[in-house]
Amino acid sequence: MKITVIGAGYVGLVTAACLADVGHQVLCAKKSKKKFEMLKKGISPIYEPGLSEMLRRNLDENRIDFTTDMEEAINFSEAIFICVGTPTTPEGEADLSQVEDVVSSISKYMDDYKLIIEKSTVPVNTHLKIREMVREKTDIDFDVASNPEFLAEGTSVYNFMNPHRIVVGVDTPRARKIFEEIYQPFTTKGFPLLITDIPSAEIIKYASNAFLAMKISYINMISDLCEKTGASIDDVSQGVGLDHRIGSKFLNAGLGYGGSCLPKDVTALIHTYKEHDLDTGLLQETEKINQKRKDIFYQQVEENLDDMEGKVITLWGLAFKPNTDDIRAAPAIDIVRKLQDAGAMVKLYDPKAEENFQRIIPENENITYFDDKYDALKDSSALLLVTEWDEFKESDVDRIKELMESPTIIDGRNIMDRDLMMDKGFRYVSMGR
Ligand SMILES: NC(=O)c1ccc[n+]([C@@H]2O[C@H](COP(=O)([O-])OP(=O)(O)OC[C@H]3O[C@@H](n4cnc5c(N)ncnc54)[C@H](O)[C@@H]3O)[C@@H](O)[C@H]2O)c1
Repeated sequence: MKITVIGAGYVGLVTAACLADVGHQVLCAKKSKKKFEMLKKGISPIYEPGLSEMLRRNLDENRIDFTTDMEEAINFSEAIFICVGTPTTPEGEADLSQVEDVVSSISKYMDDYKLIIEKSTVPVNTHLKIREMVREKTDIDFDVASNPEFLAEGTSVYNFMNPHRIVVGVDTPRARKIFEEIYQPFTTKGFPLLITDIPSAEIIKYASNAFLAMKISYINMISDLCEKTGASIDDVSQGVGLDHRIGSKFLNAGLGYGGSCLPKDVTALIHTYKEHDLDTGLLQETEKINQKRKDIFYQQVEENLDDMEGKVITLWGLAFKPNTDDIRAAPAIDIVRKLQDAGAMVKLYDPKAEENFQRIIPENENITYFDDKYDALKDSSALLLVTEWDEFKESDVDRIKELMESPTIIDGRNIMDRDLMMDKGFRYVSMGR
């Protein structure tokens, strides 16, 4: 089946590549020519395991192509996935301007029936606004539908190809039939397709993300109690997570959640609740606890280092989580800025996110980036662990100690074995244990 995907970011590119990989004919529209040539050669501009290989395979077999011509993209197929960004406005609302831009192009160029699919995360009843926008411009038949995406960066190709569920919100039999055809390669493998009304599908996405954020904030709240009472959050998390009704995922205490989804989606949901005069207490508390995690971590840095002026401090991990180069709302941004303000000489290392981080915090006389994690440790007074990349867990602890001026580790992700670090003579601080 022919499919159009608009937007070639984390969601658009993965959606386009995976739908091509299951046999559809996909045209993916990019806004600018930037990185267009890379895509045409099958090189993913974002780091996502398995994505470049999948792109190359489907380019070779002519199942995927890219364009910057919106009119061509819109009239390539009847199913159009909108996968553009929905960031937060200063008021905390979801900024729908990118979605509106795309909808306005669709209504301008469409020459036949279209199924306009919200894959971007949009607030409940956005489909009504989209419908109104298109209706005003054309008499051609169309449907609007919601098909939220649940992939997680770092494992997005796997998540798309092996979904826990595919959620689709429709209100016509025609739209339903198109989705059944699009997702047939998944449903035949037994992956569940949940078909709902459109507002429910729109809410499912926010409800899921807010729940995950709440789970992280909840375990971080429990971690504070562990710290005060001599309990270990590792044992507590394990004991709680072994209950099948709760589950062990998203129960890691530490620096809290970041990234392009959870923070913005919780904020946008709060805004929606306010619009409907509903109580926002639980959501606001989730956000407040999360904000505080970075402060608690930074306090630990201050308490363990006294004066930071002129001291070398090393930070491992810039991405908001492992296996991605995405730094949106990454805790490292605030932490590096604070260290810089305190006059520290900051040395930074991340396996994949340096290029993106440099765009926000460029190298200068106080900030140096390294290609090797051990090189970043020379003469350091403290190592701050900010992202839980596997390669940090597998570090040579003796080498770390040897390279540092004073062996202090502040572990914001509870990566290291606490007893081992103590035995090796580190001053080791972690979260809630
Ligand atoms: N990143 C995730 O893990 C994730 C997971 C699930 C859902 N989502 C949601 O999916 C949406 C997209 O997120 P993302 O992380 O892929 O964002 P992104 O910023 O990585 O990608 C969005 C892309 O859309 C492009 N774009 C904007 N306007 C365009 C236009 N008119 N024509 C063509 N391209 C255009 C931008 O240039 C950008 O490349 C958001 O609503 C997000 O909340 C994201």
